[in-house]
Amino acid sequence: MSESHGLPRIITSLPGPKAAAIIERDQAVISPSYTRGYPFVIARGQGAVVEDVDGNLFLDFNAGIAVVATGHSHPRVVEEVRRQAGEFLHMSGTDFYYENMVALAEKLAALAPMPGPKRVFFGNSGTEAVEAALKLARYRTGRDKFIAFLGAFHGRTMGSLSLTGSKSVQKQGFAPLPLGVTHVPYANCYRCAYNRQPDSCAVECVKVLENELFRTILPADEVAAVFVEPVQGEGGYVVPPRKFFDELRAVCDKHGILLAADEVQSGMGRTGRMFACEHFGLEPDIVTMAKGIASGLPLSATIARAEVMQWRPGAHASTFGGNPVSIAASLATLELLEQGLVEQAARTGAAMLRRMKGWVERYPQVGDVRGMGLMLAFELVKDKATKERAPELRDRIVDLAFERGLLILGAGANSIRLSPPLVITEEQADFALATIESCISEATA
Ligand SMILES: Cc1ncc(COP(=O)(O)O)c(C=O)c1O
Repeated sequence: MSESHGLPRIITSLPGPKAAAIIERDQAVISPSYTRGYPFVIARGQGAVVEDVDGNLFLDFNAGIAVVATGHSHPRVVEEVRRQAGEFLHMSGTDFYYENMVALAEKLAALAPMPGPKRVFFGNSGTEAVEAALKLARYRTGRDKFIAFLGAFHGRTMGSLSLTGSKSVQKQGFAPLPLGVTHVPYANCYRCAYNRQPDSCAVECVKVLENELFRTILPADEVAAVFVEPVQGEGGYVVPPRKFFDELRAVCDKHGILLAADEVQSGMGRTGRMFACEHFGLEPDIVTMAKGIASGLPLSATIARAEVMQWRPGAHASTFGGNPVSIAASLATLELLEQGLVEQAARTGAAMLRRMKGWVERYPQVGDVRGMGLMLAFELVKDKATKERAPELRDRIVDLAFERGLLILGAGANSIRLSPPLVITEEQADFALATIESCISEATA
């Protein structure tokens, strides 16, 4: 890795010649369903800095889509991966035993945001964690239907895709989807579906379940589970008020419906607490996790209250789920998170949010700024009164930031998300925000 001092350094036109050549080969052979925004081709990374194949250095405020929580190739994680790789790479934890799988399950069960004994199922990806939760909810309740939220993203395999309500392109062409899912508006207070202000809000987005849904099209006793992201991720990093979760928990309890919190994106310290649920006092029945859980190695976990995760041997399993090398990376990741990275994320994120909040006054096109910890976003609009979305402006800002060496990504139709590794320094945070400010000014000039 070139000497970087933690900040970007662009030395070629973008993309550079080596990056351009790889992208040309990629375009001939890789699935065109992937959604690449700008031409960044990584060669290596360290902390929050990534180097492309032409020697350009970028500051990574995506963290591989909220995955490399401890930064790129954290030495402690790499050491544990190397050590475990030299012992054994695979044994299939669904048919045999190994100690580090038990150790990680014990750790996650102790940390999970609900009381009492818990059990853990391991998979490889976010969507697998959600599929396990879907199957478990049906199996345990004997009910077949689900409730999810508009704007939600829970994955792209057929079951989790049934729950996803983020972008129609993700569903187009794949009908019929296998699960009966009813989608209701999420508690997006900037764009309240019921035209309420926070002070006049009676949590209509949850009341609609009893007042309308259960009365008309969806018998409550046929609903196995409600799936909810504590902070909506792909939908635009939307943070609901606490009363949304209080009401949701109460409705679920009343009707014997399981409450599944999808913490695939919001978990592992990203919001400044280990689980985003903790900010709201939400105690779910099932939690799904992936992304940041192993700092980049494929791993997911579905954690449930022990009385919920009761199913027969053979009911669900995965050959690769809980790979021992991924688990070694996860144990090292958790150690680093507990040794200070979660607090660091809370601190750095709070300072960033304070500065970003000023953007709403400063720029006519920044309609909303929101987030928790290092899960931050701002929303671009054409007009603050109508809140008309400005997706082209959003894309222009993302492109300009790339040209200046800052990697950021969109979320939802017109928001930009900041989800850097939790290890970023104050200097890197300041640099990123100053860069975004100059990109907003240039794009709106
Ligand atoms: C909340 C949430 N759930 C599930 C998923 C799916 O995860 P994966 O892409 O690992 O299948 C994502 C991915 O962005 C997510 O943000």
